[in-house]
Amino acid sequence: MTETCCQRFSEEQYHKLDEVIAQYQGKPGGLIPVLHQAQLIFGYLPKEVQIRVAEGLNVPLSEVYGVVTFYSFFSQQPRGKHTIGVCLGTACYVKGAADIVEALEKELDVKVGETTANGDFTLMVTRCVGACGLAPVLTVGEDVYGRLTADKIPEVIKHYQKTEE
Ligand code: FES
Repeated sequence: MTETCCQRFSEEQYHKLDEVIAQYQGKPGGLIPVLHQAQLIFGYLPKEVQIRVAEGLNVPLSEVYGVVTFYSFFSQQPRGKHTIGVCLGTACYVKGAADIVEALEKELDVKVGETTANGDFTLMVTRCVGACGLAPVLTVGEDVYGRLTADKIPEVIKHYQKTEE
C-alpha cells in the first residue's frame, strides 16, 4: 500500500497499467499508446497515473504532462455520465463545427475538456469519426448526430437529461 493519493483506484487497475507499461518499456513511441490504455483503465489521467507512466517508461513527467495537455482526447478530469465529442475533422470544421462547440459550451456552461457540475456531461472534441457526409457531427457515447446546427443543441442535450429520470 502506498500514499493516500493513490487509494481512489484499485490495485487491479494499477496492475493492468503496469502490464501495459511493461509492453512498451524501452520502445520508442510508447508514451501515447500507454496513455491511451491508461485512460481506458482509469477513465481519465489524473496526476498519480501520469507519475506512474512517467516512472514506468522512464520519461520526464513534464513530457507526459505535455502530451496529456496537447491532445484533446486525453482528459485529466473524471468523465461525466455522457461524453459528448464534437468532430473537428476537416469536413466538420468546414461545415461549422466551431459553432457547435460554442453552442455546447454555452448550453452546458463548461469549456472543452470539462465536465458539468452535476456530472452528467463531459465535452470533448474528436478527430474525424468517419461520418463526414453528415458533417457537422457530434457523438454522445455511441450515438451519432449529424447535420447539426447550433439551434439543435438544446434538443440533443435534453434527450439525455430525460433518459436520466
Ligand atoms: S470530419 Fe467529421 S466525421 Fe469526418
